[in-house]
Order: sequence, then structure tokens, then C-alpha cells
Amino acid sequence: MPPSPGPPSPAPPGFAALWESLLPIGQDPGTGGYRRFSWTPADLDCRAWFEAAARHRQLRTEPDRNGNLWAWWDVPGSSAPAVATGSHLDSVPDGGAYDGPLGVVSAFAAIDELRTAGFAPARPIAVAAFTEEEGGRFGVACLGSRLLTGAIDPETARGLRDGDGTALPDAMRAGGQDPGLIGRDEDLIARLGCYVELHIEQGRALTDLGAALGIAEGIWPHGRWRLDFAGQADHAGTAALADRRDPMIPYAATVLAARTAAVERGARATIGKVTAEPGAANAVCSAVRAWLDVRAADGRTLEDTVDQILAAAGQESDANRVVMTSRQESFSPEVEFDAMLADRLAAVLAARGIDAPSLPTGAGHDAGVLAARLPTAMLFVRNPTGISHSPAEHAEDGDCASGVIALAAVLRDLAG
Ligand code: GLV
Ligand code: MN
Ligand code: MN
Repeated sequence: MPPSPGPPSPAPPGFAALWESLLPIGQDPGTGGYRRFSWTPADLDCRAWFEAAARHRQLRTEPDRNGNLWAWWDVPGSSAPAVATGSHLDSVPDGGAYDGPLGVVSAFAAIDELRTAGFAPARPIAVAAFTEEEGGRFGVACLGSRLLTGAIDPETARGLRDGDGTALPDAMRAGGQDPGLIGRDEDLIARLGCYVELHIEQGRALTDLGAALGIAEGIWPHGRWRLDFAGQADHAGTAALADRRDPMIPYAATVLAARTAAVERGARATIGKVTAEPGAANAVCSAVRAWLDVRAADGRTLEDTVDQILAAAGQESDANRVVMTSRQESFSPEVEFDAMLADRLAAVLAARGIDAPSLPTGAGHDAGVLAARLPTAMLFVRNPTGISHSPAEHAEDGDCASGVIALAAVLRDLAG
């Protein structure tokens, strides 16, 4: 049972207690950011937290074959497919507290609200926590939902390695999950009728519109490319500039080319991760490896933006006698969320006096991957600064409370 209300607080009591209990897990004391990478000790603590939260609510927990966690509010005698909700608990390096966890905590809190109101669902309700949504450890975003739906084949996934060379199967085994079982799970998909993910907004649109909540319209197509620039290590003091094969030069030109291409095409292009080898202050690098993330409003613009950046990377590499290779690490096509489900959410919220504008987003989500197999929808909660993937990410308690109330209303409508 949720704790009694106590002093006035804008967040529902079930939400506040759960939120507080999750906050310390995987937080770096230096930066205040979260480092919850899949199958690491922080992730295993998040999994234990999920199971405890479910147990506390008498929900049946069940990890699936791909390491995603599920908590079921079963309805004896109902064979109807479930209304699923939830999000993810993993983070980017030094991520914020809300991206992912807000959806999982709100899902449990919404169930508390429904139980307190005496609601008896006519079909099961499931809370999910998808694994490796950020691709923060193994490089493929939404890995858990991609495996579940068959958007990535199990052999490719078993070949993934993290930055230290640990293979996904070894990481899964260390976390108590059998990697031999991964892959498309039609039995589980057949048990799901729809998926509604609540998520912090990762931009400032709701703040600009003066709305606490929004409904997702679609997700921009997006992808990640790994760029390897191979040159020749040399002495920083004695190697003549004209003789150098310095991979840092075409790399730097590529960063600027990415910015130019994104500006010209109204896209987003980011290089947020780079390594330089051997990494001596007094030596020309032998190799630079960079990760390019590109997103755009449509597939054609995305393709053109990537082509423009890779062409510039190739030209600058040739001009510096550096060898550049590129490889796509993950790709997510454009997603349009189910219009009927979105309209239904809007109607449920409107009936409660909540005006939730419809928004596109450049951020990726498991709901986007699941959209290929079942009706999915997303509710966004206002983020006052719009900052995300950063310790500065924030949502006000009052808006989180509105999110829980809205999600409870949606679950009541869909599962009633
Ligand atoms: C995840 O948040 C992404 O958009 O990459
Ligand atoms: Mn994210
Ligand atoms: Mn997320």
C-alpha cells in the first residue's frame, strides 16, 4: 500500500517514495549524473529496485528472453492483450534522473492511483523497463525492444562489444540472463495490446506552449555512425607539418562539416564521443574514432545530411593522407505514432480539462521500436529548460504529478 499522504506535496505519495528510492542508484557523486549502463552493478540494482516495487504492489514480475523487465497486474480469466506502459532505467553517461525512470516510476504510481480508486481492470496491465534503451554500453539504442520485436537479429546482438571489449553475452551472463534465449518473442508480443510510454520532454516545446503535458505525434528518423580516421603517430616537435598524416585534422573538419550540414538542412548532427590514440600531449595521433549522431524530420533529409558529412570527412581525410572508414551502428526509421490511440489519449485528457498539445520529437524511444508491432503512444512531461542527457535535466514535482494522474486516466480508459 502507498504511504499515507503526510504534509502537502504536489507529487502523489506513491510517486515521491518510489522516486526517492531510485534516485541514489548509479549516481556519480562527482558530477551528479547517472551511469546506469546495462548489466553493470548499477543496472542490476535498478533491476532489483524494479522487482521490489512490483512485489510491493503484488504485481507478478517476469524478465523476458531479452532482459527486459515486466511487472504484470494480471486479470484472472481475461485472455485480452495487456495495456503496457513503462520506459527504461538505463542512462547515457552522466545522464539525468528523468529520462526513462520517470516513465517507470509514473507507471507504478499510476497503478497506485488506480488501486486507491478501487479500479478493477478488465484486461491485464503491464509495466515494462526496457534494457539498453540508450545504447550507452553496447552502442545500439533500444536494444531490448529491438530484440523483442526482431528489429535486430540475435547473432548481430551477440557480436556487440562494449568499450572495454566485453561481449554482450558475457555481460548478460554476469547479470544472470541467458544470452542464448535472445531474439524475437512473438509469444510476448501477442500478449500486448498497446504500449503507452510516459517520458520527460527532451526539448522546450511544452514550456514554450505553456502546457504541462504533451502527446507524441512521431519520432524523427535517426542513426549513429562510427568514423575511424587512421593516420601515423609522430613527434609533436620534430615532425614537419607537411609530412604529417594527422587524423585529428580531418576529424576536426568533420565536426565542423556536421554542423554546417545540419544548419543547411534543418537537421541535427552531433559528434558527442571521440577517442584519440595513443593520446599523448606531445605526439601526433595514430587514430581518432568518433561517433556521429544524425537526426532529421524525414528520411531523405537524414540521408542527404549524412552523405554530405561523410563526403566532407572523406575529402579531408584524402587531403591529409588519412584513411577514413565509416560504419552505421544503429538506425531508427521515421515513426508515426498510432493516430487512433493518440486521439484516444487526447480525449481522455481533455475530459479531465488537460490540454495536451501534439509534438514531434528528435529523441528515440522504445515506443518507436514497438510501434512496428503494436499501437503505441507517448505522453511527454514538461521540462522547464529542455535540457536532457545531462544532470541538469529536470521536471517539476507538480508536472510529474500531472503525468501520473494523466497516465492513470489513460490506463483506466484502455484497460477498463
Ligand atoms: C535516446 O534518448 C536518444 O534519442 O538517443
Ligand atoms: Mn535518452
Ligand atoms: Mn529515454
